[in-house]
Amino acid sequence: MAKDWTPSSWRDKPILQVPDYPDPMALADTEARLATFPPLVFAGEARKLKRQLAEVAEGRGFLLQGGDCAESFAEHGADNIRDFFRAFLQMAVVLTFAAASPVVKVGRIAGQFAKPRSSGSETVNGKTLPSYRGDIINGIDFDEASRIPNPERQLEAYRQSAATLNLLRAFAQGGYANLENVHQWMLGFVGGSPEAERYGQIADRISETMGFMRAIGISGESHPALRETDFFTSHEALLLGYEQALTRVDSTSGDWYATSGHMIWIGDRTRQADHAHVEYCRGIRNPLGLKCGPSMEADDLLRLIDALNPANEAGRLTLITRFGHEKVEEHLPRLIRAVEREGRKVVWSCDPMHGNTITVNSYKTRPFDRILAEVQRFFEVHRAEGTHAGGIHIEMTGKDVTECTGGGRPVLAEDLSDRYHTHCDPRLNANQALELAFLVSELVKRDHETVQPEALRAAG
Ligand code: TRP
Ligand code: MN
Repeated sequence: MAKDWTPSSWRDKPILQVPDYPDPMALADTEARLATFPPLVFAGEARKLKRQLAEVAEGRGFLLQGGDCAESFAEHGADNIRDFFRAFLQMAVVLTFAAASPVVKVGRIAGQFAKPRSSGSETVNGKTLPSYRGDIINGIDFDEASRIPNPERQLEAYRQSAATLNLLRAFAQGGYANLENVHQWMLGFVGGSPEAERYGQIADRISETMGFMRAIGISGESHPALRETDFFTSHEALLLGYEQALTRVDSTSGDWYATSGHMIWIGDRTRQADHAHVEYCRGIRNPLGLKCGPSMEADDLLRLIDALNPANEAGRLTLITRFGHEKVEEHLPRLIRAVEREGRKVVWSCDPMHGNTITVNSYKTRPFDRILAEVQRFFEVHRAEGTHAGGIHIEMTGKDVTECTGGGRPVLAEDLSDRYHTHCDPRLNANQALELAFLVSELVKRDHETVQPEALRAAG
């Protein structure tokens, strides 16, 4: 177990991004109630994800992580969850089939409710209020009452996370994700797009393969891998009181786990090695993500790896880099070299969203070509350094929103106002997400062909 660590040891450290709750007693009451609630995930599932990520760290597989920037209470519902899951499955199947690579599937979902902010307050038309920090903390409406942090919201976040997770488990294990259904996942798709057409072709080939396998005695009934998939949840571990309340000892191993989600990550704003967020995360045994922006120095990174993964366990730590399309080549090589020099086992994943946000017509947006450029350069740098480009981390939705510009069925600057629904950052819509999956599958495939033929064989 981590030395001198308890689920509350973070409380003695400096901390950033803390909401100002007006009633500390009410907050303590809520946390005490949450501590009596059942865990949302089991330690065994977190260990399974860690094993899958360990394969990625060793160069055998690809991590697909994606979902809302911030989940919203108002949009919680079966249709949204299904649409997201369907878009996500389409991406996963494209990557698995076109790139012939196992895909580790992790949603930014069922707990992604807390947001770090660059400023503690926001001024609109001369009126200043506390910033919106995510639905688990306060409301997005720009009025006094809604912006006051309210602990009751943590109970609603727990309830929604449980309901979302329940439906996702049912979809993943209960038949919806059956490869026999690849064609059904197209329904509800915005028709006539180049991606829909390309997806249809892949779905045909998979159906054909399934028919062949069925003929030789391999089917979903005899082989669960064909009809089920492992889908994991993740979120930023920002609101540490909530995380602490859901931190539990696993009775089989005696280790501490965060049970709010399978994987949690530390944001680029709260990753100071001697601060609270790193302190909390070092003591739990879940797989961890660490966001790395342009200000991350190689020394900082090595210190953080020492704190978060002292045993150098493969699959424990995923470095999620988010530099912006013009800065990848400047920043990524020095971090890779430091990690390689010290022989540290990590998964390298590319977040091409957060470094590519611009404002157009007073909307925050992200041009699709810049997102793609960051991913391409991420792959190029890894190829040059001889390391494995292990995954992508994206903000996406299953809906036909107009939040990011560009793509094969382009969203134009003047379209942004049509269906701009995000609570926080602009997300790829279902078409753009699928288009990205096709492009990434080609990059992954090329890496397999040139870099790791023996790794591919080992993966089966
Ligand atoms: N179980 C395998 C996997 O998860 C195959 C699979 C079943 C699959 N359903 C899927 C792959 C849906 C992608 C999407 O990889
Ligand atoms: Mn975001």
